[in-house]
Amino acid sequence: MTAPFRVALSGDFRKPDGAPVYPDFDLEPLRSAPNVEFGYLKPGNPVEADQLADFDALILLAHRFTRESIHENGRLAVVARFGVGYDTVDVEACTNAGIALVITPDGVRRPVAVSIIAFILALTGKLMIKDRLTREGAAGFARRGEHMGAGLVGRTLGSVGIGNIGAELFRLIKPFDMQLIAHDPYADPKLAADLGVKLVSLEDVFRLSDIVSVSCPLTPETHHLVNAERLARMKPTAYFINTARGPIVDQKALTKVLQERRIAGAGLDVLEKEPPDADDPILKLDNVILAPHALCWTDQCFAGNGAADVRAVLDVQHGREPRVVVNKAVLKQPAWKNRLSEFRERFG
Ligand SMILES: NC(=O)c1ccc[n+]([C@@H]2O[C@H](COP(=O)([O-])OP(=O)(O)OC[C@H]3O[C@@H](n4cnc5c(N)ncnc54)[C@H](O)[C@@H]3O)[C@@H](O)[C@H]2O)c1
Repeated sequence: MTAPFRVALSGDFRKPDGAPVYPDFDLEPLRSAPNVEFGYLKPGNPVEADQLADFDALILLAHRFTRESIHENGRLAVVARFGVGYDTVDVEACTNAGIALVITPDGVRRPVAVSIIAFILALTGKLMIKDRLTREGAAGFARRGEHMGAGLVGRTLGSVGIGNIGAELFRLIKPFDMQLIAHDPYADPKLAADLGVKLVSLEDVFRLSDIVSVSCPLTPETHHLVNAERLARMKPTAYFINTARGPIVDQKALTKVLQERRIAGAGLDVLEKEPPDADDPILKLDNVILAPHALCWTDQCFAGNGAADVRAVLDVQHGREPRVVVNKAVLKQPAWKNRLSEFRERFG
């Protein structure tokens, strides 16, 4: 009898009472897959190596996966992140240990792009202000003319990053008839041209845009990429949106330009410190819309991420390369190829 392929789910997928944290993540395809067993890890953060000793695959929510998470028995073949950010994972350690790191761009592409559009429409339409005015009754209605929104036709939307999410944003915003620009040092020029997006310098994204949106990964290169100098280039009527990662932005610098009303406002799904300190001045500003790193969280987003992760681990079980591997160098390693052919022999 073949020993089953064992899949671990990180402990943060379960509440203390054992109920799933995100019931939209459908585990049925895993439960019903032949020769697969799955189990939850204890809620240790970072993930502890000892707990992974008997697993071939890990589906990882928000817990960190570090060098110390890797068991020396070399059994773990794949870490499937639930989402596309992998700053919580030591990629180099995975590569050195022959572990493939998988992400789920199909799950987040539409939900995050939609959340950027939600910010664009709420900021330019002054949705939060008008909500407050309405609740004030007659006094609020009397001041509604002071809060004219900004129409989008002909205005410029600039994105820092035109990858999975940035490109989807441009696809979805098409009917709004905006000018589209982006900066991305690794952009695919054909994709940009097909989407009607002009590739420009980083400085020009800040200088020319009526809305600047950030959709690049957090790396040493992009840490505090949005700084005082770049924010100073923005038009006083422009809005800034970040749905990528908080530390890409120097939040002190952003808070200052917002306090001094040197830009029109901001929409932030991510902050440098999450959750922020109770006395963080950004929480006091009326020209910012905030979300708790969850604006894209919908039933469809969670179902999509879960389905993509399950597909990836079942691909590995059957000896197939998973679709979206971050550390592609692993795929060339003879040890990985042998491992895949062993899985193919065992599970077909
Ligand atoms: N708020 C959320 O809940 C949420 C959900 C999903 C993803 N995200 C974030 O969104 C980011 C983008 O996701 P994605 O799926 O589009 O990733 P992606 O890798 O497909 O696209 C990122 C793009 O950024 C570009 N880039 C890299 N360095 C850059 C730089 N210095 N300047 C400009 N562009 C640069 C890359 O070339 C790439 O085209 C993720 O890294 C993640 O941090 C946030």
